Parts: sequence; structure tokens; C-alpha cells
Amino acid sequence: MAMDPKHFRNTLGRFATGVTVVTVNDGETSRGMTANAFSSVSLDPPLILVCVDQNATCLEMIRNAKKFNVNFLAEKQKDLSDWFAGKGRDAEDQFSELDYDMGENTTPVLKGNIGLLECELFNEVPGGDHTIFVGLVTRALFEEDVKAPLLYYASSYRKMDLDAEFN
Ligand SMILES: Cc1cc2nc3c(=O)[nH]c(=O)nc-3n(C[C@H](O)[C@H](O)[C@H](O)COP(=O)(O)O)c2cc1C
Repeated sequence: MAMDPKHFRNTLGRFATGVTVVTVNDGETSRGMTANAFSSVSLDPPLILVCVDQNATCLEMIRNAKKFNVNFLAEKQKDLSDWFAGKGRDAEDQFSELDYDMGENTTPVLKGNIGLLECELFNEVPGGDHTIFVGLVTRALFEEDVKAPLLYYASSYRKMDLDAEFN
């Protein structure tokens, strides 16, 4: 029997994640896409993956650019998540009002991120209605001060209580 998509989504939603914005620059345009289908893959070589919807505008851009960045969002950056998941889709220049730099790979780096992975496209794997982009990490940066991440759980953004550590 076919899996009910809503039930499947709701079940997956019980896996808590952080939130990333995947950024790309193809030499002409920069774009970003909110993504939580992100995972580490390998330490040696350093590989990560992100699953991108076949209909996402940035899909072809990543293929063409052969590089992308993964920005790990801080709790304070919820607006950026909203922007790159919807409201900013039709903006001619998604970055014109944003605080960002260009990374060493000339791909946008969102200021205030809590972690950054600059990647070369290592491999592309078919994944149903998504494409799995495997990235070879060429530069990794993180915020030394442990700052609250933006979380996504059960279809909602959540906050982490950084003081609530297990002993
Ligand atoms: C919390 C959250 C996580 C998301 N994760 C993904 C993801 O992992 N992969 C994906 O393709 N779309 C994901 N989306 C949807 C995309 O951000 C959205 O469809 C985006 O507008 C597509 O980018 P485009 O403008 O390049 O088409 C997510 C949205 C939200 C709000």
C-alpha cells in the first residue's frame, strides 16, 4: 500500500533538526534555499550531503556552479529561514537587503551563521523527487562561542535551552 505523504511527513517531523541555508553563485546570480535535509557523510574525505527538491530553482545552479555553501542558522536567524523558504523566492536579488560576505569560493556566506561549510560538488545521486548533492568540504568555520541554533521539529521552529545539559 502506498505511503500517505502527510503521515510520512509528520513521522519525519519527529526527527529534530537544525536549519541550514544552502547558498550558490553560478557566476551571474546568487541564490539561497532553506534546507534541513542535511547530513554529515564522511570524515576522510570530508563529505556532507543535502537533498534538494527537483523543482528548486537552485538545483540547476548548483549543477552549473559545481560548488555551494551550507550556512547553519542561529536561533536569531529565523527570518532568514522564512526568507529563503518562501517570501524571498521571487526577489530579483535575494541578497540585496542581507548582511553577507562572499566566501573563498565566491559563494554567499550569511553573517551571523553558527557554522559554515564551503563545498565543491563531489557527487550527485538521484533521490526520488529530490537530488542528493554530496559536497566535498573545502573550508569549515564555526562560531567559538556556543550560540543557540535554530531548530525545526514537528513542523515548527523551536528554541534550544543551552543550559539544559544532561549531567
Ligand atoms: C525548515 C525547512 C526546511 C526545508 N528543507 C528543505 C530541504 O532540505 N530540501 C528542499 O529541497 N527544500 C527544503 N525546504 C523548502 C525550500 O526551502 C523551498 O521550497 C525553497 O523556496 C526552494 O528554493 P528555490 O527558491 O530555489 O526554488 C525547506 C523549508 C523549510 C521551511
